[in-house]
Amino acid sequence: ERKVKVEPAKLKFKAVDKNITDEVTVPKGYSVAILTALGDPILAGVPAFQNDGTDANYAGRIGDHGDALYYFGLGVKTGRRDDNSSLRGILAQNHENLNIQYLHPNGPTTSASGTRPEEEAMKEIEAHGVSFVEIRDTAKLGSGEGSRKGGDGGKKIPSTWEFVQGGPLNRRVTPNTPTEIYGPVRGSDLLKTKFSPAGTAGRGTINNCANGVTLWASLLTCEENWAFYFLRSGDDAQRSPEELVALRRYGVTSSTGNYGWASVSASAWPQDVFDKWDARAKTDDPADAVTDYRNEPNQYGWVVEIDPYNPNAAPRKRTALGRFAHEGAWLGKITRGRPVSVYMGDDSRNEYFYKFVSAAKWDPQDALAEDRLAVGDKYLDNGTLYVARFNEDGTGTWLPLVFGQVPNPAGYEFADQADILVHARLAADAVGATTMDRPEWTATNPVTGEVYLTLTNNRASSRPITAVNAPNPRFYNDPSPASANNYGNPNGHIVRIRERESNPGATRFTWDVYLFGADSQDPDQPGVDRNISELGNANDFSSPDGLWFSRPQNAGGQVAPLAWIQTDDGSMDDRTNDQMLVAFPGKVGDGDRITVGGMDAAGMASSQQTVMGTAATSANLRRFLVGPNECEITGVDSTPDGRTLFVGIQHPGEDGTPDAPSSNWPQSQSGNQSGRPRSGVVAITKDDGGVVGL
Ligand code: FEO
Ligand code: CA
Ligand code: CA
Ligand code: CA
Repeated sequence: ERKVKVEPAKLKFKAVDKNITDEVTVPKGYSVAILTALGDPILAGVPAFQNDGTDANYAGRIGDHGDALYYFGLGVKTGRRDDNSSLRGILAQNHENLNIQYLHPNGPTTSASGTRPEEEAMKEIEAHGVSFVEIRDTAKLGSGEGSRKGGDGGKKIPSTWEFVQGGPLNRRVTPNTPTEIYGPVRGSDLLKTKFSPAGTAGRGTINNCANGVTLWASLLTCEENWAFYFLRSGDDAQRSPEELVALRRYGVTSSTGNYGWASVSASAWPQDVFDKWDARAKTDDPADAVTDYRNEPNQYGWVVEIDPYNPNAAPRKRTALGRFAHEGAWLGKITRGRPVSVYMGDDSRNEYFYKFVSAAKWDPQDALAEDRLAVGDKYLDNGTLYVARFNEDGTGTWLPLVFGQVPNPAGYEFADQADILVHARLAADAVGATTMDRPEWTATNPVTGEVYLTLTNNRASSRPITAVNAPNPRFYNDPSPASANNYGNPNGHIVRIRERESNPGATRFTWDVYLFGADSQDPDQPGVDRNISELGNANDFSSPDGLWFSRPQNAGGQVAPLAWIQTDDGSMDDRTNDQMLVAFPGKVGDGDRITVGGMDAAGMASSQQTVMGTAATSANLRRFLVGPNECEITGVDSTPDGRTLFVGIQHPGEDGTPDAPSSNWPQSQSGNQSGRPRSGVVAITKDDGGVVGL
């Protein structure tokens, strides 16, 4: 390998002030344009979006609650994969959930007898999933057919980026799209359903949250809060005690299912696609799973691989990576001859941090294979799933979740490896993994290989304030006003790990805390140091969630990548909307011993901040963006040249009503304070054409 001397980057922009204006605000010298938004028609023939609740055809539109995104390059002339193209690409985006009130003329309806109308449920189902849409820089390429015409009202914002309706690779994957089960769970009794009595196929993907991208240019989309869509209560007598242990551990307990889809009486669609959300066992014979829908929840909770360059290829559920509330799935730094690793958070309170390590060793020739999903078969179907144990002294261990090595947890006996993977949480409990304050995104520093993990927050109602552990050391203790949110870890933090000998297959690692969130205006209480990273007005934040390192080829690879942090704010709502910060993550590879600030003995464990690069400080961490009202900032990528940054604005106005929307974004971005809010993606450019952030 050629050694490139990588210099620390310098942040050159002036921090954006906290604000509650209903706009995306960015530093002076930068511009924001709307690229896509909920309802934009992406398939040919789908009519323009009216945004008044009358629109249908969401399987041909951008879905709701845009979450993680990724830009896959396309050759300007060829329209085929080109990883270096910064002018034309496919924007892949997850559609996690709904602002349901804005999807229908007057909000969702339910009949007196408790049934949901089919027409409404069809929209709600299809507004979930994943979208793929061609985008292009029209300043260089000219306008595409049917592109966005800046139709958000108000003054027109100059944008050179537009999406192309009817692009040949445009695609929607929804909760109805046929999928294939791959890996060790394929064919297991636990996956046998009416749809697939052989247990080899499934229908769709849901609650897609964060993502990952492979070295062979496929998308990994992650199923997070799938459990709550299923009606599953009242059937305890038909379930075995072991099944109940598993269902409760995963939270498959709802008495309605999120949106009551199982109540629909179908005429336009097959009845099955609604009935499948009723996961109640109708008999006590497990073999009846192929006539009722009791195993349907086992189809979800996976990492799903999709080929963005082949719209005809069915998504593959990669079961070797385990089943839980998958936040994201980011690859570790990979080199020739070493295994491929994937880092994954399970985002619920007190859940775990996981790693998958492939059995196959990386062959760089696979990066350019035409059959991308076949490469996925090679690296993602055969390997070992591990869960993290963090020790008090700044070391940690990856514990293998392998049948025969994992003890049985209370009330459950594993049958085989498929059972371990379907019930990875139970296996992780049994091996003694470390509970965390809601593991969200992971990101890999492409230069050092260090892996960062956001821990968004936790509260005392779920984690008693004294139940801290080394990587989740903080308890916030504010008796006034008395509220569960005032105890625990309301502002979150970011943990960083380094594998032993930088080997992705290592079973030992070291770790430290890179950064603690805080509200700098919230004064410390005696004995409790809340603002451990000493954040100030230019960079205080709460609830880190999205996390991403800028592409390493930015600025010719001579500058260390930047870490981008996105928030899903819990505790600073009165002073600012959700935001995005950027950090230079430390002197690269210097291995300095650092201290993240003294934590008070009255409040926290304090021995573990001893490990790696430089911690974030006010000098190298700065607020870059503030979002519109009631949004979450989630989803980020750039063009390969780093000169256009794409950022997701999720669920603006989530607490409003159709008559009184609490945000008018994206219309408000151009001064039009009316209309229903829409999740969307913005394209951010620097006015001098430079690399964003530098
Ligand atoms: Fe969908 Fe954990 O955020
Ligand atoms: Ca998230
Ligand atoms: Ca979140
Ligand atoms: Ca949210």
